[in-house]
Amino acid sequence: MAPIIEVTNVSKRFGSFHAVRDCSLSIDKGSITGLIGPNGAGKSTLFNMVAGNLAPTSGSIHFDGRDITGLPAHDLFKLGLLRTFQIAHEFSNMSVIENLMMVPQAQSGENLVSAWFQPGRVAREESQVMKRADEVIDFLKIRRVRDELAGNLSGGQKKLLELGRTMMVDARLVLLDEIAAGVNKTLLIDLADNIKRLNRELGYTFFVIEHDMDFIAELCDPVIVMASGSVMTQGHIDDIKRDESVIEAYFGGSPTGHATANTPADGVSVS
Ligand SMILES: Nc1ncnc2c1ncn2[C@@H]1O[C@H](COP(=O)(O)OP(=O)(O)O)[C@@H](O)[C@H]1O
Ligand SMILES: [Mg+2]
Repeated sequence: MAPIIEVTNVSKRFGSFHAVRDCSLSIDKGSITGLIGPNGAGKSTLFNMVAGNLAPTSGSIHFDGRDITGLPAHDLFKLGLLRTFQIAHEFSNMSVIENLMMVPQAQSGENLVSAWFQPGRVAREESQVMKRADEVIDFLKIRRVRDELAGNLSGGQKKLLELGRTMMVDARLVLLDEIAAGVNKTLLIDLADNIKRLNRELGYTFFVIEHDMDFIAELCDPVIVMASGSVMTQGHIDDIKRDESVIEAYFGGSPTGHATANTPADGVSVS
């Protein structure tokens, strides 16, 4: 399978501190690839670089064969590479359907001049955006809360809405940073199911940071393990769980001293 993302010798320094160090990895098109590792391993920093929220200090990142190193998030968004974001505070007073319709599209309604001269066209496009938003709502099976204010949704429903926002554009690679945090078990299953359906039915590739090992095991293959800013190993979760060096990275005390603050969840045992 061809890689959709290739990270080559990427480093990110904050002052003299190396958050990510000479990191190389690739993500297969069509995969749901997991990223785990102790707190402070550099996972979020790596994500931020792939998503265009941080520029690498050195190294390169390719998306579908194209060099995207240092391209800002809004350019990557147009290419179909995006990350989910928590529903911003100011959108909590808008309904679910409105939140979906807010996702930037190549819409002429945003352009004042064309809104002035071609009101018919703008109305037509807006109804198309609503149609798409309604399709997203049906795909995610959240019609019950279509007109509910986003602020009134449960934690898990909010995550579904965040996922739904990626469906308003033609996403190809979606980055999920700890999307399972604070979601109850029932909705977690819903969330995992929807991620799998997006992967299977719409061809999304996912890159997933998650602490919940059950969620990772249910969803991801392969799983990449990061420690101290670099990739430590990669493989099927069953092999990762048995890997002595992974267990050591979690329990053996990390250079940042946060190892105990981040127990690796139920799945990893020290036996
Ligand atoms: N903007 C920043 N400035 C300085 N240090 C940072 C910054 N962002 C992250 N770090 C440090 O880089 C290391 C990796 O952080 P992060 O990528 O968030 O790890 P993870 O997501 O694996 O827990 C941590 O030690 C963190 O304190
Ligand atoms: Mg993080």
